[in-house]
Amino acid sequence: MKKVLLGVSASISAYKAVEIVRLLKKRGYKVKVLMTEDATKFVSPLTFEVVSEEAVIVDQFKDADNKKVEHIRLAREYDLLLIAPASLDLIGKLSCGIADSFLALIFYAFEKKVLISPAMNSSMYNHPVNQKNIEYLKSIRVDFIEPDSGSLACGEEGIGRLPSPEYIVERVEAELTDKILKDKKILITGGPTREKFDDFRFLSNPSSGKTGLFLAEKARNFGAKVTLISGKTALKRPWGVEYVEIESARDMEREVKKRIKDIDILIMSAAVADFRPEIYKKGKIKKEKIKDTYDLKLVKNPDILKEVSKAKKEGQIFVGFSAQEDLNMDEAKKKLKEKKLDLIVLNKISDKRGGFESDENKVIIISKDEDIEKTRFLSKEEIAEKILKFIYEKWVKKER
Ligand SMILES: Cc1cc2nc3c(=O)[nH]c(=O)nc-3n(C[C@H](O)[C@H](O)[C@H](O)COP(=O)(O)O)c2cc1C
Repeated sequence: MKKVLLGVSASISAYKAVEIVRLLKKRGYKVKVLMTEDATKFVSPLTFEVVSEEAVIVDQFKDADNKKVEHIRLAREYDLLLIAPASLDLIGKLSCGIADSFLALIFYAFEKKVLISPAMNSSMYNHPVNQKNIEYLKSIRVDFIEPDSGSLACGEEGIGRLPSPEYIVERVEAELTDKILKDKKILITGGPTREKFDDFRFLSNPSSGKTGLFLAEKARNFGAKVTLISGKTALKRPWGVEYVEIESARDMEREVKKRIKDIDILIMSAAVADFRPEIYKKGKIKKEKIKDTYDLKLVKNPDILKEVSKAKKEGQIFVGFSAQEDLNMDEAKKKLKEKKLDLIVLNKISDKRGGFESDENKVIIISKDEDIEKTRFLSKEEIAEKILKFIYEKWVKKER
């Protein structure tokens, strides 16, 4: 279990730190909260104590177990120090050697990763003194989470908001993930394609894009350089990933081909439409002009994987997905050979619990030399991790 020290200082956004603790705990981290004295005027230590299930340290002389020199003990035991929110005052102290609170003190004893998330009014954030302090801390390899812009607690607009607890937790998770795919260039496709027959109507499928998104996020956390080429989805755009939004199968083919030469791993998880309307009409086809039926002739779309496989280079790893109504292993193995794949991920789309619009999936991973891993129903996030770890174990680990 990875362990996070969360430092909370006196900003109006301190209440958001309670949610940060909750989300970290939900993801399986041990969390211990350290607060400045002034932070307790915004949120009670009791709240953090209940949510973290750990005693909170505010006063270094009263709350800390000094028989064990606790600032050193905790600095050695914990894996990451996150300070969120970080006040202007605390950032100033940390940049010039002041250690007048337990939280400030531990900063100097901590030798692993420190992540600071400032939150304050824009004038305070942009103040040359604060900027100079941040620049100095960055220069000694302290990492910062850039504040968001928007409406601030004081009623003004601008930069200075504490980012969402979800985002801060993602940054912690990325930091604490082993970099098993460090520097690998990975191209991932995800989501549905839209095949238009006029400017307002199209054929598509119910793919949510979650598998592609989670693959991209996990691969980024594993240290890879990731590009996600995705059809339109309702999902957030992942940070730290080159994101390319496309509409049709032919757009996707163009974008994949542009990048294929330079990548190490290709994962095609998009639900690419097999067919598109033969004719596309500009504007909107008028309903009044159609009697009872409207003939839509379909033509086959390019098979992107088959196309790019023709120019597959030595050492590149290609992964395909096969969405089937029944889990037909023979059909999947045939596809694996035909498209020169290294791995195929077979998933069932007829199951109510898994497939297209669900948060879960159950897959069979088959490698070209017939190593097979069958999963039970898992979240799509867990499935993404399994696929990437399979690739690591099978190929990347051996070359390192
Ligand atoms: C209502 C209110 C809101 C405040 N919000 C912030 C803030 O968001 N960011 C900040 O840097 N300071 C803020 N301050 C100022 C700090 O609370 C003050 O500088 C405090 O002494 C910092 O203590 P600490 O750095 O020891 O936690 C606020 C003060 C008040 C009264």
